[in-house]
Amino acid sequence: MCGIIGAVSQRNIANILLEGLLRLEYRGYDSAGLAIIDQLGKFNRFRCLGKVQKLIDTTQNKNLKGIIGLAHTRWATHGAPSEINAHPHLSEHIVIVHNGIIENHEKLRKELLSYGYIFSSETDTEVIAHLFHLKQKQHGGSLLEVVFQTIREIRGSFGIVVMDKSNPSTLVAARIGSPLVIGCGVDENFIASDQIALLSIANSFIHLEEGDVAEISYDKINIFNVIGNIVNRNEIKSYVHYDITSKGKYRHHMQKEIYEQPVAIKNTLKGRCKDKEIDLSELGVNMNFLKNIKHVQIIACGTSYNSGMVSRYWFESLANIPCDVEIASEFRYRKLQVRKNSLLIVLSQSGETADTLAALRLSKKLNYIGSLAICNVLHSSIVRESDLYLTTKSGIEIGVASTKTFSTQLIVLLMLVIKLGSLNGMNLEVQHSIIKAIQILPFRIEQVLARDHIIEEIAKDFFNKNHALFIGRGDHYPIAMEGALKLKEISYIHAEAYAAGELKHGPLALIDNKMPVIVIAPNNELLRKLKCNIEEIRTRGGLLYIFTDQNTNFKNELNMKIIQLPYIENVTAPIFYTIPLQLLSYYVAVIKHRNIDQPRNLAKSVTVE
Ligand code: F6R
Repeated sequence: MCGIIGAVSQRNIANILLEGLLRLEYRGYDSAGLAIIDQLGKFNRFRCLGKVQKLIDTTQNKNLKGIIGLAHTRWATHGAPSEINAHPHLSEHIVIVHNGIIENHEKLRKELLSYGYIFSSETDTEVIAHLFHLKQKQHGGSLLEVVFQTIREIRGSFGIVVMDKSNPSTLVAARIGSPLVIGCGVDENFIASDQIALLSIANSFIHLEEGDVAEISYDKINIFNVIGNIVNRNEIKSYVHYDITSKGKYRHHMQKEIYEQPVAIKNTLKGRCKDKEIDLSELGVNMNFLKNIKHVQIIACGTSYNSGMVSRYWFESLANIPCDVEIASEFRYRKLQVRKNSLLIVLSQSGETADTLAALRLSKKLNYIGSLAICNVLHSSIVRESDLYLTTKSGIEIGVASTKTFSTQLIVLLMLVIKLGSLNGMNLEVQHSIIKAIQILPFRIEQVLARDHIIEEIAKDFFNKNHALFIGRGDHYPIAMEGALKLKEISYIHAEAYAAGELKHGPLALIDNKMPVIVIAPNNELLRKLKCNIEEIRTRGGLLYIFTDQNTNFKNELNMKIIQLPYIENVTAPIFYTIPLQLLSYYVAVIKHRNIDQPRNLAKSVTVE
């Protein structure tokens, strides 16, 4: 959360910083700021409440120039979104930007007040700035030395970058929990919280490891590990190009990403899903390791958790492997019993989610036979810290709401289920039929996308709604959860999901002719049961929206709209039924004029606890 970009060069870097911020805005967008020093040592700082575009407008006629600078887009933790709380923060000549949370900021603030420091913001970041200043005053030393002294005293999870107005040749960055990546250029170097910010200006990158401190000047990069020894970190080439404006014919990134799903799925299958078998040799483990897996423990947050929940049905019913799924923030704070021969799977599109990463780290002290990350970002912390990984190949996802990363996570999980199932006695015929279903899925999804106008029409009914219920059964219960999460996230309509069988245990009390109930009703063995639940709602006057197969014989009746979808194989139906729900949320958010790609209070990469 929050985005950082810093640059040190011999040319003017003002636009590089601003453009980098635009690319980082999906990580946080409450306020933005920039501090820059030119060749003559002239310092400028601009900050504003709101979007990066406002900062760009504010600086446009200022002839902004500089060869070293820092910029930041904020997702507020300590202190409300406001100009005074926006980064960079200053303490005389010290300039700092920061991601993450300083847990002992109150104690430090008190100490600093006793030394006479005056605070102009409510942030924990300003505490670090003053602490730097104090350390330098007390002990002297280079910026690097002061960074080491200071981070020893701060607790929490953070990434910081510091610049010294009185020596504007070097940036110093420290990573304790929050990712930072250096972009290497010719006669210039950069630092950012996310490679995406640097894609157009650097093509080789160094990811800082936990505890690393880096000293960056235009012609030199020194990296020190947590105990202060100079270290070599891998420099990785990347030729990915990324154009922030590339929404193509779409109005929003989220819309584009929904429509990209057939291609994202094909890319994720490529080289792995062969005609008659699943090839996961990229894992680099032998068959015995995979055969030994007798339990799967999945940890994740949000949408990734929902995909884990779907896969639980698959692991148990198709591969005969017991599976538990837990929200990472719960997993990490309870005393748990690890099952025998249990594989820990961490699901995360960003690979940086703080709770998921912390749970992964915790698991290393426990008795899992290994950890496997399923992630959309190859060089992310979660991938780097897991024993094994499988990437989803969705391409960059910019919309804050996960869409294509959800469906491709499910694809990877289903391939894993087949692989483990094949080693656990799964019948060949079953394997082949699932493989066939996966291969045809992109085509089936295209058929649903072609019916988007039907869903756009239905979305109009939700304009004045404040609440909605989503229900499903079996592996479609997590899809109801995902539908509800998407709707609340981008349209701000309160939405809840229930296993349909749970309705009579409480939620039925909510049903009246104003309450929309979205039913996920595929043509499977639970449909008969689900029809009974639908009747319970209908007799109480509920407003039903039934997403179903064209062969289920539901008819449009009073207070009951049927959204007929093309045929889909049972095994891939959860992925398929996600698509119309994504479209529903999207169109509801459009008619409600919501900020679809950057919904309020949220951020794409949740790097704070
Ligand atoms: C919802 C959404 C979030 C994320 C959650 C975990 O659309 O995107 O709920 O799924 O923050 O993020 P990752 O998958 O990056 O660990």
